[in-house]
Amino acid sequence: MANETLTIRRPDDWHAHLRDGEMLKAVAPFTARQFARAIVMPNLVPPIATPEEASAYRARIVDATGPGFTPLMTCYLTDSTSQDELARGFETGAWIAAKLYPAGATTNSASGVTDIRNIYPVLERMERIGMVLCVHGEVTDPRIDVFDRETVFIERVLAPVTRDFPGLKIVFEHITTAQAVQFVLQAGDGLAATVTPQHLILNRNAIFAGGLRPHAYCLPVAKREEHRLAVRKAASSGSPKFFLGTDSAPHSREAKESSCGCAGIFNAPFALESYATVFEEEGALDHFEAFASENGARFYGLPLNEGSVTLERSEARVPDELAGVVPFQAGEVLGWRLLA
Ligand code: DOR
Ligand code: ZN
Repeated sequence: MANETLTIRRPDDWHAHLRDGEMLKAVAPFTARQFARAIVMPNLVPPIATPEEASAYRARIVDATGPGFTPLMTCYLTDSTSQDELARGFETGAWIAAKLYPAGATTNSASGVTDIRNIYPVLERMERIGMVLCVHGEVTDPRIDVFDRETVFIERVLAPVTRDFPGLKIVFEHITTAQAVQFVLQAGDGLAATVTPQHLILNRNAIFAGGLRPHAYCLPVAKREEHRLAVRKAASSGSPKFFLGTDSAPHSREAKESSCGCAGIFNAPFALESYATVFEEEGALDHFEAFASENGARFYGLPLNEGSVTLERSEARVPDELAGVVPFQAGEVLGWRLLA
């Protein structure tokens, strides 16, 4: 009997960190092998904040991946982002979305936004021109417990922004909590969310399983089991408000295995395999294609990809290290394998 296979329209990754320089060359091909397009995060040092920087970065990415992969660029918002320059970059196709990092929330977010009010004129312009806002949804207030930063962000920032800019398209990225799921479900069509493999697979115990596990650490940090279950249910529900965004965020082994290890999980090499395993466990493989290949493109107003990819039911062992980086689920055997 032929092996069981799963064929879906070519998918996209609506949230990826491709880095720069040697790391870009090493990691971008993994994303390009799995996905037709990816929304590329702008949190380089210095950040991608002008249309010219975005175009030059796009060229470096295409150089690293070769043809057949389309990077979708984003602008890093700061307190002083010029709305005219932002709109110019959007209109000329230098970028398709802008990324809100609350200053200090995560890796390379130091130049992020210190108070959402500072970018209200920019948000108004984005609402007017139909440009998507990608949001790292965590407050940075040190008085707020790290596990509560997403839910407090909903109250303090996301709820007011959706109220004040009802026409603004917002992607609430890498959601990790039942509260985020609820908020997205009750909001209008302008709010959607991405979901990472790790937040479908890990709860916070994974970070402390038998010792401190730096490779299970990312931001937002994994939460309690009840939250993981809520996120899994939402992602696999078939709702068009949830779509694939890996947040693949490679750091060298040394940078992770350190007295102050970096946040970020490198999940690009086996992302589809990880997601497919989850959808199968949820009995929701019939919703996998919409999550991976349709909902995101529709939200961004982009055409669906042509062509398809096929996963085969067979064992895929995740290597212990790839390109000097320890990948997500290193050493584990996944139940699906992406065919070349
Ligand atoms: O864990 C994370 N790593 N979360 C982010 O938001 C940024 C990312 C990175 O760039 O390493
Ligand atoms: Zn990210």
